[in-house]
Amino acid sequence: MAADNNALFCIALVLFSGLLGHSAFVGKSHSGGKEDLVLQYVVNNSLREHPVLTKLKLRTLDDRWSGMMVASEEAQLMANLIRLINGTKAIEIGMYTGYNALSMALAMADNGRVVACEIHQAYVDIARPFFQEAGVDHKIEVRLQEAVKTLDELLQAGEAGTFDFVFIDADKINYDMYYEKSLELIRTKGIIAIDNVLWSGRVLNPAEDDASSKALDALNKKLHKDERIDLSMLTMADGLTIAIKR
Ligand SMILES: C[S@@+](CC[C@H](N)C(=O)[O-])C[C@H]1O[C@@H](n2cnc3c(N)ncnc32)[C@H](O)[C@@H]1O
Ligand SMILES: *[C@@H]1O[C@H](CO)[C@@H](O)[C@H](O)[C@H]1NC(C)=O
Ligand SMILES: *[C@@H]1O[C@H](CO)[C@@H](O)[C@H](O)[C@H]1NC(C)=O
Repeated sequence: MAADNNALFCIALVLFSGLLGHSAFVGKSHSGGKEDLVLQYVVNNSLREHPVLTKLKLRTLDDRWSGMMVASEEAQLMANLIRLINGTKAIEIGMYTGYNALSMALAMADNGRVVACEIHQAYVDIARPFFQEAGVDHKIEVRLQEAVKTLDELLQAGEAGTFDFVFIDADKINYDMYYEKSLELIRTKGIIAIDNVLWSGRVLNPAEDDASSKALDALNKKLHKDERIDLSMLTMADGLTIAIKR
């Protein structure tokens, strides 16, 4: 499972977060902490976190895999992009405890819909009360099964070309497949955001036995040449690629 793939990464982030010394701060940096004061400045001077998001973040920090949680400033960027394009249909591939799913739902009008893919019931059980407390539970449809099955079901249901936004943040070796299916599901000018594209810098020189780093590096190189999209690769958090369907 992804938790194992992510283990090293998570440990590094947890250690890094610990160094910062105050628990509410969970900004992430691809540079492994060298810019932590600048990042703190960024968060201090731009984060506008909904109070229920703050509560969910603090609850998630009790979980041993909390290093998997999206960075708050990164979730805020994605919420802002959704507002910019008036998004009402989104997919979260890898929900974990729901920080970004909740953040996206809060950015949408009341008819908004977030299809959230997750395979572990325990994470959904943590997330659900916070969705309810924030008053957006009706916008978040959790599908507890392999993400690829959910994406195929959406395609079979005739929803190709109808989604505004997809966030890819599950098992890294399947990112390419998630990207291809997302590109089918998204509308023209819709956005696919892809997390962990720098993978703590390991994409620069992937070890022969490091399947996640190799998969991410291959996808990064494929997207660079992919004429179906416009893109930006951001050094925010652990690397976030924004791909806009042409
Ligand atoms: C990095 S975490 C997601 C963090 C989340 N986006 C957030 O906002 O905090 C990755 C999640 O993907 C889930 N996952 C891993 N493989 C999956 C799969 N094949 N299908 C669906 N979910 C999967 C894991 O259980 C884990 O909760
Ligand atoms: C960020 O805010 C915290 C809490 O107010 C403060 O302790 C810290 O010095 C600030 N850091 C920067 C770089 O602004
Ligand atoms: C978003 O919706 C607002 C209000 O309905 C509208 O004025 C605006 O043009 C829309 N923007 C886009 C990008 O669709």
